[in-house]
Amino acid sequence: MARRKYVVGNWKMNGLASALDEARAIFEGAAAHPSVDVALCPPFTLIGAMHAAAPDAAVGGQDCHSADAGAFTGSVAASMLADAGATLVIVGHSERRDGCGETNAEVKAKAEAALAAGLSVILCVGEPREVREAGGAIDHVLAQVRESLPDQFDRTRLAIAYEPIWAIGTGLVPTVEDVAAMHGSIRAALTERIGAGANELRLLYGGSVNGDNAAELLGAGDVDGALVGGASLTAAKFLPIVAAAATLAG
Ligand code: 13P
Repeated sequence: MARRKYVVGNWKMNGLASALDEARAIFEGAAAHPSVDVALCPPFTLIGAMHAAAPDAAVGGQDCHSADAGAFTGSVAASMLADAGATLVIVGHSERRDGCGETNAEVKAKAEAALAAGLSVILCVGEPREVREAGGAIDHVLAQVRESLPDQFDRTRLAIAYEPIWAIGTGLVPTVEDVAAMHGSIRAALTERIGAGANELRLLYGGSVNGDNAAELLGAGDVDGALVGGASLTAAKFLPIVAAAATLAG
């Protein structure tokens, strides 16, 4: 089964209500490329409004708690995201693993909670610069995959995003060969875990993707799409990435 291309915008901590026009423009423009699945993950505060502004579009969260409710001040449960209109959630982003001290075990629990709430999951992994320079990138990322992957999951509702930490927001990107090697290794680890069904999982690349490099990065072996930060904030920057994915979708 061919894997559909998937381009997801992670707005991080950007976006007020005034940004909803931009989101609408993104979803309208993306509709011209029906071969590509497109989603936007705004801050929690915009999920409901973005879903209302574009009811047919895929809107997601950037994190969720592993519990369904309780005394967790400031946290949001996966069921709450779904209730607000989200259909997906990012878990394990490096800005949460590093910035908030999230472990693989916590990321796994979050992914399991999200799946249980009916959401699709984008599970992020990626190595720091020193690990890449020391030649340990693949081992590091495969350990993250093995330890943060849920025990059971519907493979059509889980995607893995490989985001080298040193490539996020820096303008630096790995070589196409390095991306292909990493994605091939992730696919092989998934096959070891779940067998041939691993071919149905989508593997996204993230880190300084833009309209100029998208075709090359998304054309690398085993890359099924992109998780985009800075270039997802405007239609002018994001739609060329969707268009590049559409070209590769054939
Ligand atoms: P940039 O595209 O801004 O490098 O961010 C990537 C990212 O972290 C997406 O989750």
